[in-house]
Formats: sequence, structure tokens, C-alpha cells
Amino acid sequence: MLPSNFILPSSTLPFLGLLMSVLTWLIVKWPIHRKSSTLQIQQPEKQSFTKPLPSPHPDDPTSNTPKLYRPFRHGPNFITMGIRKLHWDNWIEMDSYFLRYHDIKAAELKKDFKEHIKYVDNAVTKDACFELNEELVRHLTHRYPKTFRLEGGKVHNGLTGEAFAFPAGTPDEALATSALLVQDDLVLMMKNDDGEYHLDAAAVCLPGFWRLREKFRMSLDTLHFEAGVPHYAAKLQKAMNKFMLKLTPDKPVERNNFFIQLDDGLHWSHRMGDQQGTEVASWATANGKDLAIDEIHFRSERQTLRRLPRSGAILFTIRTYFEPMTKLAQEPYIPGRLLEAIQNWDETVSYYKGKSSWEKILMPYLDEQNRLQQERGLVEGTEAEFPY
Ligand code: HEM
Repeated sequence: MLPSNFILPSSTLPFLGLLMSVLTWLIVKWPIHRKSSTLQIQQPEKQSFTKPLPSPHPDDPTSNTPKLYRPFRHGPNFITMGIRKLHWDNWIEMDSYFLRYHDIKAAELKKDFKEHIKYVDNAVTKDACFELNEELVRHLTHRYPKTFRLEGGKVHNGLTGEAFAFPAGTPDEALATSALLVQDDLVLMMKNDDGEYHLDAAAVCLPGFWRLREKFRMSLDTLHFEAGVPHYAAKLQKAMNKFMLKLTPDKPVERNNFFIQLDDGLHWSHRMGDQQGTEVASWATANGKDLAIDEIHFRSERQTLRRLPRSGAILFTIRTYFEPMTKLAQEPYIPGRLLEAIQNWDETVSYYKGKSSWEKILMPYLDEQNRLQQERGLVEGTEAEFPY
């Protein structure tokens, strides 16, 4: 206890000022530090598990109609992890758009390979790249035996005529080959010494809004804080980190999201900024000038997460579904439900989704389409379950 007449000598004031600044900094940053320092990392990551073989599909993958993911609900739409159990047969989704995706990916890789393929040069991460490629080839050759086959040390794709060395010779090759085999972007999250999962390897050709070089090596938290994900600290951070630590190889999950895009760029939204530029693309700098309804696209990601048993890496797949909004609006109930979901966003979510850049064009359009559907007698109550 200090005596009540205690007075500090003036020479200690600068020191006290410094102490206060350090304390303030600690208070502000404490939740982030506490998270990484007190989480117990006891879960053994490498586990002996072999993914069950998928049932063979009778046809080639382009016979599948693209899934109509419409992951928005009537009324309030809260930010949640929104993960669901994933059936192994559906780990990788492929459809009639495969060649379009493949060709854009191939062009992106040809244009700038290093922009899209990256990995950290250490033994575990390199092994994870090979493991990813092996897992994909094993899955695809069994799921789509009419299209993918292993022969003469190569994996052959009957749709494109490509033949890739198998096993791949280098981690780069493992990542790039994997990217060309499927429609997804592929991210490997590795647990680092700080106990957090970091984006340490990836093949990302169709991100739309972000660049791999900006996110490479970031932790799960930093990725989401930097992207300005709404309510991340309050609603997601703790649950997501816990989920990543506990995820076991036998319990894959999937989730869906959606965005409104101002143009038709599957690989890159040019209205958000220059793909080759250095400025992080954001709604703050988006160009909504003379925007027309025909340009607006609905971008929805179907993501899966699974732990690879050998390397212990967490594989995050991002399959983008992409359609003009004018096409979506023809589907029963969709314009009304989307309108309602958007109207229920709070300010933070509206800002994150760039509402001010497209609302003047999209909202009256959805309203009108909804009204026309109602006039034609469409009523609520017979809609499909989330996320359709
Ligand atoms: C349990 C796992 C995860 C959950 C629950 C989650 C959740 C979210 C949520 C809610 C958002 C806001 C938009 C949306 O609804 O998707 C988001 C955005 C984002 N997440 Fe995740 N995430 C997960 C894993 C990851 C991983 C492994 C990565 C690694 C690349 C990642 C990278 C991003 C990025 C880059 C964005 C911003 C996307 C954009 O605005 O264009 N997330 N995440």
C-alpha cells in the first residue's frame, strides 16, 4: 500500500507514461495473445487413417449439372461457422463447367505460375503437397474411372488429353497438377510453432478478390482479420481455432458462402482492382461506375476442410460457383429470399459485402423479379432446404 501523502518525483513521469503505453498495448492485443498461448495443443495430428474409396460414378464429371447453392435464408442471416458433415463421395464436386474452369486455370498458370502456386520450403509442407496430389488422384481415379486413370507412371485425364507424372516430381508440380485436375482452389494450412494454422502452401487460380501472395503464410486469425470478416473476433475466432486443432482425418466438413460480384471475372474481378497491382482489392476502391444488372454475378464458394493423415496438414478446398444474377433471378423464390437476406444484413456485413457498390442496381431488380414471381402465384413454403 502507498502512504496517502505519497507524491511521485517528476523525473519518474516519462517512465510512467511509457509504462501506461505498454499496458494499453497489452490490453488491446491481449485477446489475440491469450488465444495462442493458452490453447492446449494435445491432439495428435498424424493419424493412421485411409479415406474410404468413393463409389464409382457411371459417367464422366461433365455429365453433372452444376449444383445450385443458394446459401441465404429468409429473415436474419447470422455470421456463423456454418459447417456441415461431408460425405466422402462428394469431397470434390465437378460438373459441366469443368473445361471452362480448367482452361482459365491453365491460362492463369501460364501467365504467372509463381503468383498462383506457393509452398513453404520445409519437409512437412512439401510432403503435404505430395499427399494432396496423391489423395486427389486416388479419389478421382475411383470416383470417375471413365475419365481419370493411372497408367505408365502418369495420371491421364480423358477429357483434356493431359497426362501428368505420378507421383509428381516436385511440390510445385504436385500443386499445379492438382489444380488442373479439379475445379477447386486448394489451400494447405500447416500448424506452426505458434500453435496456429498458417496458409503455407496453395494452388489458387480463381480467387476473385484476393491474391495468394497477400495471404501466403498468414495465420487463420490474420487471414480473417485482414479480410475484415464481420464479427470475426466475437463470433468465429475461438470456435474456428478450436475446430482446426481438433479436426480429425475421418471427419471432413463443408460450408458455403456467397458474394455479389460486379463483373464476370471468375479468376479475378477487374472492377475490384488490377490483378497484377499491389494494392489489396477492396470495396473501398471498387469501381461501380455505370454498373448494369447484366454484369452483376452471384459468386458462391463451396468449401471443404479435412485433415490429411500423413502430413497432418489441413486441406481447405474452395469450389467457386459463379452465375449471372439475371439467371439466378429466374429461379423460383430466389429473388425474394435473396432480397430479404440482404435487407437483414447489419452495417458491418453490408460493408464487407460491398452493398453500397451494387444496391442501387440489384435491390430494385430483385424486388421487381420477386413481384413478378408473386404475380405468377409462387408462394413461400415449398422451398428447398439450406443451402439450396
Ligand atoms: C472452419 C473454417 C473456416 C470458417 C468457418 C471460415 C469463415 C469465414 C467467414 C464467415 C468468412 C466471411 C465470408 C464467408 O461467409 O465465407 C470468411 C472469409 C474468408 N476466409 Fe474463412 N473460414 C474458414 C477457413 C478459412 C481458411 C482455412 C482460409 C484459408 C485461406 C480462409 C480464408 C478466408 C478468406 C481469404 C476470406 C475472405 C474472402 C473474401 O472476402 O473474399 N478461411 N471465412
